[in-house]
Amino acid sequence: MATPHNEASKGDFAKTVLMPGDPLRAKYLAEHYLDNVRQVNGVRGMLAYTGTYKGKEVSIMGSGMGMPSIGIYSYELYTQYDVENIIRIGSAGSINKDVHIRDVIIAQGACTDSAWAHQYELPGTFSAISSYDLLEKAVCEAKKKQIHYHVGNIVSSDLFYHADVEASGRWSNVGCLAVEMESYALFANAAYLGKKALTLLTISDSLVNDEQETTAQERERTFTDMMEVALEIA
Ligand code: ADE
Repeated sequence: MATPHNEASKGDFAKTVLMPGDPLRAKYLAEHYLDNVRQVNGVRGMLAYTGTYKGKEVSIMGSGMGMPSIGIYSYELYTQYDVENIIRIGSAGSINKDVHIRDVIIAQGACTDSAWAHQYELPGTFSAISSYDLLEKAVCEAKKKQIHYHVGNIVSSDLFYHADVEASGRWSNVGCLAVEMESYALFANAAYLGKKALTLLTISDSLVNDEQETTAQERERTFTDMMEVALEIA
């Protein structure tokens, strides 16, 4: 059954979906890593593919940027397409001096400046955490591949351009390693719906170190390690 944002039929998605932010990256990854690949969504250009990796069925779909976007697509994947696991594979800005450009972060949890969890009307603060099962598998795989990785907390922000330039420093003070814009909503959707989610990030820029930002071409290359971890645990 199609949704307003996804023309795929039930059964078109694998139980595990990898979600890069950029739909063209989803296309590139599907074409380079999957066998027997077919496109299952093209609505609004939010490309989605299903194929096999080492004989196992896996899907790759763009999430778009920000929590409203990944919130819609992940909610529909979990509720309309029987998807069990979503692994975000994205980029982030470092807010910790020891986290460098091209490092990989395996997100244990996400803080946020968004009102996402207000919908649950909780009498306090919701901590959005990744699936321990997926997290453990990702750590094992990263160790096996000898990838330079960090496991820890991140911040999912509604803002890319902040008027309050000091905000990232305050998140850093409470142990957050990097800032991105999607994981809190993904983790919250998974928790609310009894599903699993994980985020793997490569650091594309630093808000604290004077390091050169990665070019689109470099990001493509350094993305590979993270992508291979995600595919192995899919
Ligand atoms: N994604 C990559 N870099 C980012 C940054 N500096 N802020 C928010 N999201 C990001």
